[in-house]
This record gives sequence, structure tokens and C-alpha cells, in this order.
Amino acid sequence: MQPSFWHDKWDAQQIGFHLSAVNPLLIQYWPQLHLAASAQVFVPLCGKSLDMCFLAEQGHDVLACELNDLAVSQFYQDNDLPYSVDKTAEHQRYHTEQITIYQGDIFTLHSAEMANTVAFYDRAALIAWPEEMRVNYAKQLAHLIPIGSVGLLITLDYPQAELNGPPFAVSNGWVMANMSDKFEIECLATNDVLSDNPRFVKKQVSSLTESVYKLTRKG
Ligand SMILES: C[S@@+](CC[C@H](N)C(=O)[O-])C[C@H]1O[C@@H](n2cnc3c(N)ncnc32)[C@H](O)[C@@H]1O
Repeated sequence: MQPSFWHDKWDAQQIGFHLSAVNPLLIQYWPQLHLAASAQVFVPLCGKSLDMCFLAEQGHDVLACELNDLAVSQFYQDNDLPYSVDKTAEHQRYHTEQITIYQGDIFTLHSAEMANTVAFYDRAALIAWPEEMRVNYAKQLAHLIPIGSVGLLITLDYPQAELNGPPFAVSNGWVMANMSDKFEIECLATNDVLSDNPRFVKKQVSSLTESVYKLTRKG
């Protein structure tokens, strides 16, 4: 999607992707990564997700990236977190004790900013891209995170012809075909989530599954 698509969504507060609670899949599967509390975690395309609060509560330092400045300021304000802002060459960097968000385009983020990152969490980031942009995003994610980093990837899959994204359908086959050169991939779970998603039911989408992957950045 072009940046204007997301800026318009945030301006109109049409943010149906935002969850009002921590994602239960994060709570369930994060312990399987066996990370030290001090591990720094990268959250691409973070929106104002409460999942960042969960990660900080585990003791992690969170480093995130989000295009829209309203999303970022709402995150800190909604969670009563005092913050400071400074500028890097390409981004505005919002900072509170454990959570730093680079506001701007993920494609202009530098891997040097992420030298201490050892983990990542992708929920509604890979699936936010249409197929023609998705490979570039996956490449940029792999470029940014250091070798050996582990992460969770959460995807949705449904018959794409039955509904327009985002979220876009990402099949297990797509993940394996396009990400296995840079990541070891283990599918931890695939669940039928159609009945939990009224928008998909209303549009008569015939199936909807959600998958959780453990990814390890290969050397
Ligand atoms: C579907 S939302 C998911 C947000 C969050 N991960 C969540 O679970 O609530 C995708 C987010 O990516 C942001 N975004 C889109 N393009 C981006 C880019 N090029 N760089 C950084 N963030 C971007 C959008 O502004 C939007 O907040």
C-alpha cells in the first residue's frame, strides 16, 4: 500500500486492525522463543499495538517502526507514557524508558540502528502488503534484523479473490517460497478463525485461517 493509504486510515481513525487487548497468540507463543528478559525486540509496522506493552512487561527493550505520527503519539498518550522525540536522518525517534519507535518509512531504516536486536514480532505487518510489495518488505525485514534473531510471524490466509486486502492473504506456500532463503521457518499453529472475524463472515469469505510461525534469521 502507498503511504497515503495508511495516513488516510489513521486520520479517519479507521483502524479495524488495532486490537484493544494484547494479542492472545503473542501471549501463548512468545515463551517458545526462550528469550532473555533483556533481549531487544523489533516490531515492524507497529501501529499503536498494545503488544509492545506486553513485550516491555516481559523486560524487553522494544524498538519499533511506524509510518504515521498520529499512531505513534496515540500509542504513548493512550498508555500514559511520557516520551521524548528526537530526529535521525530519516525518522522522528520517539522514546520512553523501554519503547523506542522510529516514526517513518521502514524502507529508510538502517540496520545499524538494530545492531542490538535479537528478536522480532510481526503481526499485521507482512500481511499489510499486497503481493507485489510483500517480497520487498520481507527482504527489508531480513536486512534489518541481525543474523540469529528469532521472531514470531502471524499471518492470515483466505481466498484472496473473495475479499480485497488489507489484510492480504498470505499462504504457507508463500511464506516457505519467499522467506526460507533468509529464515528458518517453523509453523507453530494454524487455526480456523473465520467465526471470530465478522467482516469476513459478512463478505461471505469461505475460509479464514491464522498461522503463527517461528522464524530464525539464517546466516
Ligand atoms: C495493519 S497495520 C498493523 C499495525 C500493528 N502491527 C498492529 O498489529 O496493530 C499496518 C501499519 O503499518 C504502517 N505502515 C504502513 N506502511 C509502512 C511503512 N512503509 N513503514 C512503516 N510503517 C508502515 C501503517 O501506518 C499501519 O499502522
